[in-house]
Amino acid sequence: MPESESQVLASYGIEAQTANPPSQPCVMVIFGASGDLTKRLLVPALYNLACDGLLADNFAMLGYARSEMTNEAFRAQMTEDIKKFHTRQEFDQEVWNNLVSRFYYMSGGYDQANFQKLKAEVANLSSQHNTSGNILFYFAVAPRFFGPICDNLHQAGFREGSGWKRIIVEKPFGTDLESALKLNEEVLAHWNENQIYRVDHYLGKETVQNLLAFRFSNGIFEPLWNKNYIDNIQFNVSEEVDVGSRGGYYDSSGVLRDMMQNHMFQMLAYLCMEQPGSFEPDAIRNEKAKLLQAVRVYTPDEVARYVVRGQYGPRADEAGKVTKPGYRQEKDVPAESKTETYAAARFQIDNWRWEGTPIYLRSGKALWKRGTEIVVEFKKPPQAMFNGTAVPQLHPNRLIFHIQPYQGIEMQFQAKVPGPTLQLQPVNMRFSYADAFKASRYTGYEVMIYSCSHGDATLFSRGDLVEAAWRAAQPLLDYWTATPAENFPNYERGSWGPKEASDLIERDGRRWFEVVTDGLLKRVALFQDGDMLFLSQVIQALRPKMVGADETIIRKGEIGREMYLLARGEVEVLDDSGKVVKVLKDGDFFGEVALLMSTPRMANVRTRTSCDLFVLDKTDFNRILHDHPQFAQSVMKIAKDRYSVK
Ligand code: BG6
Repeated sequence: MPESESQVLASYGIEAQTANPPSQPCVMVIFGASGDLTKRLLVPALYNLACDGLLADNFAMLGYARSEMTNEAFRAQMTEDIKKFHTRQEFDQEVWNNLVSRFYYMSGGYDQANFQKLKAEVANLSSQHNTSGNILFYFAVAPRFFGPICDNLHQAGFREGSGWKRIIVEKPFGTDLESALKLNEEVLAHWNENQIYRVDHYLGKETVQNLLAFRFSNGIFEPLWNKNYIDNIQFNVSEEVDVGSRGGYYDSSGVLRDMMQNHMFQMLAYLCMEQPGSFEPDAIRNEKAKLLQAVRVYTPDEVARYVVRGQYGPRADEAGKVTKPGYRQEKDVPAESKTETYAAARFQIDNWRWEGTPIYLRSGKALWKRGTEIVVEFKKPPQAMFNGTAVPQLHPNRLIFHIQPYQGIEMQFQAKVPGPTLQLQPVNMRFSYADAFKASRYTGYEVMIYSCSHGDATLFSRGDLVEAAWRAAQPLLDYWTATPAENFPNYERGSWGPKEASDLIERDGRRWFEVVTDGLLKRVALFQDGDMLFLSQVIQALRPKMVGADETIIRKGEIGREMYLLARGEVEVLDDSGKVVKVLKDGDFFGEVALLMSTPRMANVRTRTSCDLFVLDKTDFNRILHDHPQFAQSVMKIAKDRYSVK
């Protein structure tokens, strides 16, 4: 092995092997056990814990729901479901048999008589499995049951006796500020805050937990973590999935309640909060609460200026036939629904650290890609020193947290392109979880159940935190109720979202940073056979641009400074008389001839529909051509066919 390679490998540490103790003994009672969450996530999480030796031997799970079922039938159902929903490469029958033999079921409603029976059953399981009276209640039911269950548990005497009693509450915790306050009141009527564990499954994600490790265990970033060095921060949760069979729930929710007020605000708090004094749960949660309390509560005018919403419309084929429904055609969604499936917002944190630093959030369903990323964009150095060189402009340094599906952290900076003159190219340093650690097969719920059993509330939301998040979200809900959207649907399924979202950030002289993977780039025919080096150079150079319908992008006779890749939409190429000579669609490109041949633009190009475009600037184009002459050939070949260029 050459020396340079051996040195690089030597810088990797050996993964620390710390033996984690198993969860604490307990009986786990799942309310709503016949629902989706239990089979899809909770039972697979228990199974993962068991496989990894992290589930106490003294453990039993009691499923509780209205449907009638025997213990045996419940076990048989779970055994069938786990085959579908387990997340490991191999299924370990022995571990499963051992686990499922500790599953029990009880049917009943949410009234006192049934809870007396429940009390007797739990006491029975507790002595049978020697769980020291510890009970973990999991509320996998609709929020309207949270209060009544808490009351009934209290009245049935569950608070008394030895052992701890803890309650995990699923989201959504309220549908607005008022309902969240009421829910907190109901839940806390008989139980203490330190017994209530409000789930936000984003906090169970390794990559989200790592935000804290990254910020506070590395000395080089914290000094830069403020308004003096950071220009803006972008949180992006882009989902390719639509609302599927959840239209009924989703229509009363929308993306603000479903993603932003909870998952995204949690990430925001982790990324932007002050340093906690320790890793104690309340030390961290105090700082998160302070941060969320500092998010500016917008006036209606500010909502109108800083927030945009969207709803996806259908996707049609070339003949205009709808191939996939829009939101309003989804099951259980009203035909005139005004519910937003997309939102983009600029928030402001009014504290010493962040005053004046825009915090952008955007999320939506039925978009072009799945990807959750946080982009921290640093301030640019002064350009003046580079005047007179071949560097047209400097790019900002960016730190990108890839939360999912790709998991890693990337630092973008500029490097000198090898050669006799000073030219720069953005490059990256990348840490990938898959390269550094054994891949985690967890669903995210393992750590929730495990931490709760140990009384560690770090990963759960506290009452005041939830309220602070609702306080910041409430003006958006109010404004949207007062001024229902007139332009829905306003983005096509499979697109980048509504054009208003890119206008929002462009008004500030910035743009959304799009994480483009080689897989996404390969959707464009031109790049299908590209090797990694080539693709990564292209990815670094691309600039996303959204353009509305009927806009001229290229004018005949002008000097070309960029070429365009059409990710989605249609453009038409027009001759001198304004006649359409060609229509270009998803995956096509245009504007290349003027760059290849240094001639003025040969035709006008106008958008027919709204378009999602990638722009490749002339300097980047030339550099890539220089390193990859075969790229020039493929572009030239297509250009020749298209324009009869000799
Ligand atoms: C859930 C939302 O809380 O989070 C869903 O209700 C959303 O609508 C999901 O799809 C996203 O979670 P993840 O882990 O897939 O990013």
